[in-house]
Amino acid sequence: MSEQNAPGARGEDAEREPDGGARRAHVPHVLDPAGMREQYRAEGIEAEGFAAEPMDQFGRWFADAVAAGIFEPNAMVVSTADTRGRPSSRTVLLKQYAARGFVFYTNHTSRKGREIAENPHVALLFPWHPMARQVLVTGTAAHVDRAETAAYFHSRPHGSQLGAWASEQSRVVASREVLDEQYARLAARYPEGSEVPVPPHWGGYLVTPETVEFWQGRENRLHDRLRYRRTGGEQGAEPEWTLERLSP
Ligand SMILES: Cc1cc2nc3c(=O)[nH]c(=O)nc-3n(C[C@H](O)[C@H](O)[C@H](O)COP(=O)(O)O)c2cc1C
Repeated sequence: MSEQNAPGARGEDAEREPDGGARRAHVPHVLDPAGMREQYRAEGIEAEGFAAEPMDQFGRWFADAVAAGIFEPNAMVVSTADTRGRPSSRTVLLKQYAARGFVFYTNHTSRKGREIAENPHVALLFPWHPMARQVLVTGTAAHVDRAETAAYFHSRPHGSQLGAWASEQSRVVASREVLDEQYARLAARYPEGSEVPVPPHWGGYLVTPETVEFWQGRENRLHDRLRYRRTGGEQGAEPEWTLERLSP
């Protein structure tokens, strides 16, 4: 590594060429990810202080994230994969959590919806960076029942209800105008105050967890990782959980 692109080198060339260019030597050091490193907190986490059930522990950490003022603490990355194992990820909003698992809403014919139909195995990631925390979930996704979807759909703002009809999520659309026209047609048909039917292609997914990992950043990259693993409770029985420490 030359001195110029070493972390901490001064980015004078970048000042002479404000567009930065594509060459790494021209990246001012304040923008160079190689030089970006935070030292994480000293306090750790111990299995002794953790809840017996992972969803109860999630509730504690979710409350911490809300109390810490994290922006959109319910934003999570959902990863899916098709039957050939090719993965894809995107952010969605968690809309409910309870002992049974995590619920989010989307279009069933979107890319994620199509992949879940082929392969129900998913992963969730809550990236709570300002707290040096993340929660990682693996599990399987299934539709929530239509009554639950309908109750949530009608709790959404009117414009979001129309948006769910207007968008053929993940499909190529000719232009922004096509979308706006489609929305305007729907807005004329269902004015504010009228009941919008629940789109048949839209609904909730319940992610039933198989593993839930709680990750706490620590000093010197010796982070704490505590993972719940489902070890029993098949065929409708109450799940049993084993809590294990993973090496960082
Ligand atoms: C903060 C944030 C929250 C989002 N929440 C949702 C959501 O709850 N449901 C949804 O379908 N898309 C949501 N999106 C859009 C998705 O990231 C994605 O673009 C969309 O679902 C299509 O994904 P797909 O083509 O991979 O299926 C959100 C995006 C962001 C950045």
